[in-house]
Amino acid sequence: MYQQLAWILTVVLVFALAVVFLTIARKTARRVDYQPIQEKGYRIRKYWFISLVSVMVIATFFSLRDLPYHDATAAAATGAKVVNVEGYQFYWKLSQEEFYVGEPVQFNVTSMDVNHGFGLYDENMQLLAQTQAMPGYTNVVDFTFTKPGKYQILCLEYCSVGHHVMVKEIVVKEKGGASDGQN
Ligand code: CUA
Repeated sequence: MYQQLAWILTVVLVFALAVVFLTIARKTARRVDYQPIQEKGYRIRKYWFISLVSVMVIATFFSLRDLPYHDATAAAATGAKVVNVEGYQFYWKLSQEEFYVGEPVQFNVTSMDVNHGFGLYDENMQLLAQTQAMPGYTNVVDFTFTKPGKYQILCLEYCSVGHHVMVKEIVVKEKGGASDGQN
């Protein structure tokens, strides 16, 4: 009973499919002017292309202008304190280790041997700023401390056996405050 139903259904569906195929085959044999379709496609494409380029230009402008990809001489213009940071296996050398709250600092970070990672942490071990310390390059990090206290610079890139001891403590003081020399 069911077998017969399935059989009839199959025949009907195959027939319907054949009709669809034949209809499409007949229609495609007819010549259609391709020109207007092509023009419409090009119009849509042009519209989308211009829209995408506009979106990209605007997004690039707003997303990249705050990146600190500027030359090291910019510090003079902003009045930032320039601090040279050198990474060694396995320690950090800073031209200055005491800073003040609210004072813009420009860290010029490089390495004297292998790649290191410069990571600036607060007392709660929150990462505040970071960049690569690379031999032959100087990467600039702009940072302004907002709270006095002890901060740490940790190495963020595995640089061989002493990687974990590459820790440097720096001190941030209130500007002209009572904590001067007593922190
Ligand atoms: Cu230097 Cu890890």
